Amino acid sequence: MLHEKTLNEALATISLRSIDEQESYPAGQIRYLSDSGLLLDVAHDLDALRSTVTRELFDQRVRHAPGPKIDPVTDSGVWRYRELILPAPVNSIVSRPEGNTPLYEHPCMSEWVGVNSLYLKHEGENPTGSFKDRGMTVGVTQAVLMGAQAVACASTGNTSASMAAYAARAGIPAFVFIPAGKIAAGKLAQALAYGAHTLQVNGDFDDAMRLVQQVCEQLGIYLLNSLNPFRLEGQKSIVFEILQGFDWNPPDWIVLPGGNLGNTAAFGKALHEAHTLGLIDHLPRLATIQAEGASPFYQSYLTQFAEHKSMKANTVATAISIGNPVSYERAIRALKWTNGVSISVTDEEIMNAKALIDSTGIGCEPASAASVAGARKLVDNGTISPDETVVGILTGNLLKDPTATVDYHTGKWPNAKLANQPVRVEPTLAAVQTEIERRLSKAH
Ligand code: F0G
Repeated sequence: MLHEKTLNEALATISLRSIDEQESYPAGQIRYLSDSGLLLDVAHDLDALRSTVTRELFDQRVRHAPGPKIDPVTDSGVWRYRELILPAPVNSIVSRPEGNTPLYEHPCMSEWVGVNSLYLKHEGENPTGSFKDRGMTVGVTQAVLMGAQAVACASTGNTSASMAAYAARAGIPAFVFIPAGKIAAGKLAQALAYGAHTLQVNGDFDDAMRLVQQVCEQLGIYLLNSLNPFRLEGQKSIVFEILQGFDWNPPDWIVLPGGNLGNTAAFGKALHEAHTLGLIDHLPRLATIQAEGASPFYQSYLTQFAEHKSMKANTVATAISIGNPVSYERAIRALKWTNGVSISVTDEEIMNAKALIDSTGIGCEPASAASVAGARKLVDNGTISPDETVVGILTGNLLKDPTATVDYHTGKWPNAKLANQPVRVEPTLAAVQTEIERRLSKAH
């Protein structure tokens, strides 16, 4: 742990504040809820930042060729925005470095969605293959600052993979709680490989989430789920990077999948802050897409949030198979700030969208494809108009969930419109030649 005085000085410009802005605590205090049980935000002194935080400050930090030593402020797409994220001493930062992810375009994707301009921000190209790295670099840095003896999270797979990696970099023991048999193979492999203590809970994600909160409280372990507001500060950088990538002229829409709703919450806060600080002069609208089998937020949205729904979740997009999302209240606020919307898509829609994204050479895991399937649906129902600019977030890498992909292409889905069946051949030149000629003649 940093010397207490140094720590207090470093964190003096931020505080923890309940989302109704009524309760406030020092940023150096470990807590995840306010005394009255509300979710917390990291609050920045935006008035004080107004004179120092400018577009130019961030633009001058973009370095295209990383040097031999990682400098998080210039090499990481998270810490470039450190004033708006966590003013941690630079030498205490745990970074891989993360972020700086591409915005992809492909004519067949925009045509399929039904808009002229569609860009896919590929968060699956982060160091451990998902956007979670952006939150985890901040969460683990804060854990180090707080002198945490161990860190823990419940996860549908990506959070645990990311936490395991960053905890290993920091040399802190990591405990991951995952629903037994319900996370994709690539993600389980990562948690084990990076050396996390892996507890497979007999239950679903919502059970694991409940349990890890109790464990962290009882045993004094630092909780790194997105309940922890420092995680969300890091995830805000996805939005800052989009805005900077568009030369601070925001797109009309940002469309993203919603599970535990951490990202929706973080995106709303990032946009609100960027707008308040004058970095942008208008706000894009957010669209949170849920899988039909795990759509409590969308169901609540339909009641204009008069009812707070929860459900037993089940979807092929295991990353977002969550029935009782933690950042529910923060996500409502995000939609209110941005005039946002929500919609759900079926597993079949998700898998067909994924197959199209994959076939363009971009590729993603199932949950990510919900953004593209959702964007198409929102164009179909007239919410998004064809001349609007849409950025969809691809949250995770194709290799995270090989089973879902192989199942789709090998006949396990009834309406797999883009299935690319492998074929068995005899080990002879003649057999292979026949097969190749048949395929080439079909292609012409
Ligand atoms: N996409 C992917 C690939 C994810 O892993 C997640 C969440 C989401 C979308 C949804 O983001 O929770 O911020 O609404 N994964 C968490 C995990 C729950 O444990 O890895 P959210």
